[in-house]
Amino acid sequence: MNAAVAAIKPRKPSGLALVPTMGALHEGHAALMRTARESNAAVVVSIYVNPTQFGPNEDFAKYPRPLEADCRICEREGVAVVFAPTDNEMYPGSQPRLRGRGQLAASTWVEELQVAKRLEGERRPSHFHGVCTVVAKLFNIIQPDRAYFGQKDYQQLKVIQRMVRDLCYPIEIVSVPTVREADGLAMSSRNRYLSPDERAQALVLWKALNCARDLFAKGERDPQRLQTAMAQVIATAPAARLDYAEIADGETLEQRQKVKRGDVALIAAFVGATRLIDNLIL
Ligand code: PAF
Repeated sequence: MNAAVAAIKPRKPSGLALVPTMGALHEGHAALMRTARESNAAVVVSIYVNPTQFGPNEDFAKYPRPLEADCRICEREGVAVVFAPTDNEMYPGSQPRLRGRGQLAASTWVEELQVAKRLEGERRPSHFHGVCTVVAKLFNIIQPDRAYFGQKDYQQLKVIQRMVRDLCYPIEIVSVPTVREADGLAMSSRNRYLSPDERAQALVLWKALNCARDLFAKGERDPQRLQTAMAQVIATAPAARLDYAEIADGETLEQRQKVKRGDVALIAAFVGATRLIDNLIL
């Protein structure tokens, strides 16, 4: 082969990718798998509904577990290995079904204390302890070179990036843009809980974020005004109840005095009984 041909030969992707999931896979997860396949020799998808990241009154019991359908999606996307561990494999000798921090008989926890503190961390007090702990375990078991997380769970992404930096994991965290339905609703495993009417009303989350973006584009820099405007959009949907609408620093998720480009608008709202989250970088 001559040098010119050798020069244009595409480099083979190398390394091992991990796409951590709780199953109930959708196009958002498929996008993570496709992105992972582009730059890795092999992709592992973990499917584990992690009990320790659910609060006592949350949807752990009813969380969908369509393992066979999930495996078909993984196969279609060229995933090399599906890792679907049992509770005992992930929490040996513990009783993770007794959910919440402090309720496990004996266990070691991984906590991130800065980025995890507000927003989801405030509303779901043991959530990020559970996420960090299970993701650290998955990193130790799979030992990937890269791990793929969706921007849809923006705070989770930032918490994991911080954890990886703080604990010196030799793993690159790759963030993948949120995949949306045609009308803009962020894809989520929890969308399947919505009735047709709630599904239609759930679009207010995306509308509220766009309202914040439009006001920011017109020069509004007062976070309070943007937050109030988002809340007003949510109030237009009778089935929706706002949990929070905030503008935060895109890295630390601290509150802002004055909004800057790169900050993030984050929203959480119940639509009927289903809690949805979404975000948009300004
Ligand atoms: O984003 C999720 O599905 C979960 O929080 C994760 C990262 C798989 C940990 O259980």
